[in-house]
Amino acid sequence: DWNMHDFVEKTIQEIKEKVGDKKVLCALSGGVDSSVAAVLVHRAVGDQLTCIFVDHGLLRKDEGDQVEKTFKEKFHMNLVRVNVADRFLGKLKGVIDPEAKRKIIGEEFIRVFEEESDKLGKMDFLVQGTVYPDVIESGTDTAAVIKSHHNVGGLPEDMEFALIEPLRQLFKDEVRKVGEELGIPEEIVWRQPFPGPGLAIRVLGEITEEKLHIVRESDAILREEIRKGGLHREIWQYFTALPNIRSVGVMGDERTYSHTVAIRAVTSSDGMTADWARIPYEVLERISNRIVNEVDNVNRIVYDITSKPPSTIEWE
Ligand code: XMP
Repeated sequence: DWNMHDFVEKTIQEIKEKVGDKKVLCALSGGVDSSVAAVLVHRAVGDQLTCIFVDHGLLRKDEGDQVEKTFKEKFHMNLVRVNVADRFLGKLKGVIDPEAKRKIIGEEFIRVFEEESDKLGKMDFLVQGTVYPDVIESGTDTAAVIKSHHNVGGLPEDMEFALIEPLRQLFKDEVRKVGEELGIPEEIVWRQPFPGPGLAIRVLGEITEEKLHIVRESDAILREEIRKGGLHREIWQYFTALPNIRSVGVMGDERTYSHTVAIRAVTSSDGMTADWARIPYEVLERISNRIVNEVDNVNRIVYDITSKPPSTIEWE
């Protein structure tokens, strides 16, 4: 794509001139925007860039390893992965309220990021994956804040950095094209939106290791089957949630009393409104069978058939 090629060359040149021989810091989440921004900046300034990747233990199956592998081994970037799952789980212990979860995760994220960047010494610039819709959104007052969309990656206000925001003029599809132009793997470029608080808001109510395990494993099965069914590009977001209810089932001669897993899959163009995805029955059947067979302590699968509004995409 020639337009994107020109954009990439021009942007790299601009970043080079701006940064000179100074140092650049980036909070990498593994999402599309921060990944593309980081790789662009890396192309411009190489080792002057250091990325911090906070692994809060609320990511999907194998995601942390995948991010580390991609950016360290494929792109040879300076990446500091901070494994702080225990710290986040500790803070979240006993917390039930969704907004409280978001607040704790957002604040803890900032603390970890500050601690790690302190260790790196003085940095001059900060990379942000701000895209055009973010620019518009922050310039208008939204009528009602339904959820405090505390974007993890929201950074401390008192940190003094000059910002580098190479994607400020791009829409999502353009960001993806730039990502492809830069050779970023498909699973990152086409990654579905994933909330900053991660699986914490997909385990309803109190978070435990066991519940996180169920949601992580069932979600991995769902993703695999959606992909095999060739549906992964037409569905905006698809994941499992754990409603935190148990119900009675039967396995062999035994009565079971186990968890219910909910499947959520929606089509949307911007996440503001959404419709439930008409996944073919055969695909739903495979997903359901596999989850109950392969994930311990699950005996029932339900499919969420509400649109947004009145529901939201996430369950919390
Ligand atoms: P809802 O559930 O409000 O979600 O319909 C709309 C979109 O936003 C994502 N989402 C979040 N993203 N932090 C984020 O960074 C959050 O706290 C959060 N809550 C929801 C959701 O995954 C969907 O894409």
